[in-house]
Amino acid sequence: MDLLQPGRRRNRGGAECFGKGVIEMNVSEPLVLPNGVTLKNRIVKSAMSEALADEYNNPTQAQIDLFAQWSAGGAALLITGNTPVDRMHLEHAGNFVLDPGSDMERVSALAAAGKSGGAKILAQLAHAGRQTPEAINAQPTSISDVQLDLPGYGRPTPASEAEFDEIIAKFVRSAGIAQEAGFDGIEIHAAHGYLLSSALSPRINTRTDRWGGPLENRARLAIEVVKAVRQAVEPGFIVAVKLNSSDFQKGGFDHAEAVQVAVMLEAEGVDFIEISGGNFEEPTAYQHASKSGSTQIREAYFLDYAAAIKAALTIPLMVTGGFRSSSVMNDAISSGKTDLIGIGRPFIADPGFAAKLLNGEIEKAPAVEQDFPPADTLPRGAVLNWFCTQIALAGKTGAPDLDMPLVAGHESYLNQIKLATDRLLEARRN
Ligand SMILES: Cc1cc2nc3c(=O)[nH]c(=O)nc-3n(C[C@H](O)[C@H](O)[C@H](O)COP(=O)(O)O)c2cc1C
Repeated sequence: MDLLQPGRRRNRGGAECFGKGVIEMNVSEPLVLPNGVTLKNRIVKSAMSEALADEYNNPTQAQIDLFAQWSAGGAALLITGNTPVDRMHLEHAGNFVLDPGSDMERVSALAAAGKSGGAKILAQLAHAGRQTPEAINAQPTSISDVQLDLPGYGRPTPASEAEFDEIIAKFVRSAGIAQEAGFDGIEIHAAHGYLLSSALSPRINTRTDRWGGPLENRARLAIEVVKAVRQAVEPGFIVAVKLNSSDFQKGGFDHAEAVQVAVMLEAEGVDFIEISGGNFEEPTAYQHASKSGSTQIREAYFLDYAAAIKAALTIPLMVTGGFRSSSVMNDAISSGKTDLIGIGRPFIADPGFAAKLLNGEIEKAPAVEQDFPPADTLPRGAVLNWFCTQIALAGKTGAPDLDMPLVAGHESYLNQIKLATDRLLEARRN
């Protein structure tokens, strides 16, 4: 249990020297999860939607190759991008799905690639709810009929009592398929505005039955999913949850509620909770630069929010968003604010950066997003889409093209998704 209390132990490999100071490499310490599984260090590749699946929503060789690169890159744990439990509720056409139609050979190859370099791998199970693109489903099932305030998304239908049962069963089914395919566990996506996250939000969840109203009711879906999955899988199979520290929206799921839900999740046997924030309407999860005219955003932008959640929990916490310097990561761990460091975009720029950071070769993960202009001066989603293009390139050619202009990367991704959607709709017709 000692390993669950970061900061108390000294790094077995000794201190690492950076410049003038000597920094304790807490980030290189192993961590034992509540189910007994050991993570070899504290760096986790957070979920990044690869958009590389084929028209039947099966993983492609490019996606499998990408996970092999990431596995060899030094992180303890890799989390796949958004992996829908229901092919009518995709986040986009390029998701790989875990359902009875999955090609198990390919799904198993993906899990094996994720482990090939010594990392562990989780599939991030999700139901997109009202954030399902209209082209995929014009009337997605959601917690209510409150429509996403963005173009390209249809008016959702509120789930019936029977549909809640089906949704919970689909999470259980996908977790079972992930286990059979050789994944080390799953992460249930209850952040970023997808179905479980929207259920938590009083702004979106307008129900008056047992699924809406007080927090206990709004949290019911996430809790029921976790409970059912935990009961169905092996004890050694990791069950994690990604939760918003806040939606950062007026009338949305807020920070005080996030602390309470984290405690409820711990009681259901979750192995760790990952903290992020925001949703499609309020994309605070992947910040890169502040609004024009104000100062640069700081590193680890959800860390302060996470502190109250960490204080309320005994299970490990993972915080994701903006971590780049080893000094900030080590401080976050040694100060007890988090146990795991979730990192996304640097894995796209350099899949091997974690090993270099852990052995002291570099002090900072690549932060290419910081070179882009502030988000409010750019087309919506431009920086995110540029990164998505780089993921596709890294998978298909073995390396990203970091010199690609922002607009070219943005437009290339829009074309990629349009093509993937056309192919998926064609496959559905046949
Ligand atoms: C291209 C891209 C795709 C992403 N897809 C997902 C996803 O499928 N699921 C998820 O929970 N977060 C997703 N995220 C958010 C990341 O997991 C992470 O929270 C965010 O990038 C902030 O971490 P970073 O500053 O280290 O990049 C995505 C981020 C990027 C850049």
